Amino acid sequence: MKVQIKPGFLFPTQFWTAELKENIEKLQNEAYLIQKNDMVGVRKSNSGLQGYHSKDIKDLNNLPGTNQLVKQIINAVNAIHQISRQGEPQLTNFWINISGKGSSNTPHTHSGLTYSGVFFIKVPKEMKGGRFLFYRNFNEADLMSTENMGLFKKGYQLQGYDYPINTILPKENMLVVFPSWVPHAVEINLSDEERISLSFNFKLNRTLSGFK
Ligand SMILES: [Fe+2]
Repeated sequence: MKVQIKPGFLFPTQFWTAELKENIEKLQNEAYLIQKNDMVGVRKSNSGLQGYHSKDIKDLNNLPGTNQLVKQIINAVNAIHQISRQGEPQLTNFWINISGKGSSNTPHTHSGLTYSGVFFIKVPKEMKGGRFLFYRNFNEADLMSTENMGLFKKGYQLQGYDYPINTILPKENMLVVFPSWVPHAVEINLSDEERISLSFNFKLNRTLSGFK
């Protein structure tokens, strides 16, 4: 008797993208202003001498473009959450990344939070490297699945779930939101131009009426 094989999926992970219509030039100028007012910044996942990571931005008074962007991000994350869940996510923090040639962000998670994401403010015209990477599992990405599972057949059309790493090609005005536990990284920027993004975290306010 022939056995019928039924393929299934283990834990597909949702993420969300949106194209916003923000004033990119204004946001670029404000990002450089943030850097000028706090040249040191902080060291987190940013790697390389040209990798700037600002402190959390607390004061939006002189940053009208960033203020507008943050409002749009709050709207988008609320809309994402309301598709299937009750309660209201609260913005916990956000910061600017300015990545010059040779800089990257090493793989990490934002564990303990609910939604994290990135908005691309400046993408080099000739983008070399600098892609946003999602990892299914850190260990798997280290081993490369071909070592464990063999090479793919010639002619087989690869699907998203066949890869240990999925990549996002950054585009100016693109918003990417993902669950905070998903491991992610940014490839080394090999372009001469800088790459600028705003990153953020949201946490679910569990005291809201939906949970009473
Ligand atoms: Fe991150």
